[in-house]
Amino acid sequence: MSKIVVESSPPLRGTVRISGAKNAVLPVIAASLLSGQKCILEDIPFLNDVEVMSEVLVSLGADIKKLSNMRMEVNSRNIDNYEAPYELVRRMRASFLVLGPLLARMGKARISFPGGCAIGTRPIDLHLKGFSALGAEITMGHGYIEASAKKLKGDRVYLDFPSVGATENIMMAAALAEGRTVIENAAEEPEIVDLATFINKMGGCVKGAGTDTVKIDGVKELKGCTHTVIPDRVEAGTYMVAAAITRGDIIVENVVINHLMSVIAKLKEAGVIIQEVENGLRVYAPERVKAVDIKTLPYAGFPTDMQAQMMALMSVARGTSVIIETVFDNRFMHVNELRRMGANIKIDGRSAVVQGIPELTGAPVKATDLRAGAALILAGLAARGRTEITDVYHIDRGYTDIEKKFQSLGGKVYRI
Ligand code: UD1
Repeated sequence: MSKIVVESSPPLRGTVRISGAKNAVLPVIAASLLSGQKCILEDIPFLNDVEVMSEVLVSLGADIKKLSNMRMEVNSRNIDNYEAPYELVRRMRASFLVLGPLLARMGKARISFPGGCAIGTRPIDLHLKGFSALGAEITMGHGYIEASAKKLKGDRVYLDFPSVGATENIMMAAALAEGRTVIENAAEEPEIVDLATFINKMGGCVKGAGTDTVKIDGVKELKGCTHTVIPDRVEAGTYMVAAAITRGDIIVENVVINHLMSVIAKLKEAGVIIQEVENGLRVYAPERVKAVDIKTLPYAGFPTDMQAQMMALMSVARGTSVIIETVFDNRFMHVNELRRMGANIKIDGRSAVVQGIPELTGAPVKATDLRAGAALILAGLAARGRTEITDVYHIDRGYTDIEKKFQSLGGKVYRI
């Protein structure tokens, strides 16, 4: 089992290129199931989660080729299986995203029930509500969910919460349904817009993605296309916080600035200087940051996927900050690990009160989930001494070449 070791690092300097977005590429790979032709996907981050999603498609009969230069080819012409097994769904919840496209293409899908996970209970009721509205019959048993429909029919679907996954799954199912589907209170995340762009490139008709009402007019079939996924806004945010916590001066390249507005606003409020430059964003932190309050919300609010990293930063800020997590019910697992490094954090339900201290100290800690793991690397960069992080497979689910990227900025991050 590998570990990541982080040593107290100088202010980060240099340029880091941000990879394609994990959370955009996973639904895009799933959506390739909708087409009987070849799709070429570009700027693919070859991460563990992408590997699992590829394995799911291969298990359904798709043909996947890894091409050079961060490209992959997905050909779902010959899919002949409609079941995603426990073995794969267990490794990644997002495998559940194949349910919508499989149902649309095959008229049937059977998927292992995704269990709980490190950051909360994460039900799938909204996905299923959407499929039922489109006329699918849903049955459950033996740990599996089965959905079937001779022909899906468009209808209105209201989501009680703007769930990213449910919006994506329903959009994909609706792409080949008869007539119009309208998703109300849809998620507005950039990854939803990217998926809509991909479906439209394949010949689909999705309108309103990026707003709270998404309209999908079903088409008979979808063709192949080439698509470049959007840059990863969470990876970008993580390196921006790394610059802030080490009082560094870096450039993050390959970013969509609009996707980062809430993160930029909060970092600026904390005293970080952020400037648009030709190839991205310059992030410069001349001094110790000020404490700021944060509340996670669906997009365009502050992303829950940046909460842990900001908490690491607030642990060494001047003053006290209140961090409220509203998206997930149990996303403070990193608090105990940050406390092991000396952080002064109190939790009351979904709120954390972080009293900034001048310096953290390195310690053995455990990555409890993907973003929690990233937060521990950030804390380790700024801590006195050595931090050893275990369970780093979580980190590898979402960050490409993380130690190399940090090393190129002068960060002392190594894998042993
Ligand atoms: C996606 C992202 C994840 C991010 C999250 C919120 C991917 C692969 N993952 O996850 O990184 O943290 O969005 O931005 O894109 N919910 C229900 N019923 C449902 C579905 C969701 O109650 O049927 C609840 C969840 O329990 C959670 C909230 O809705 O409390 C948000 O979840 P959702 O937006 O669905 O997140 P994911 O798509 O799983």
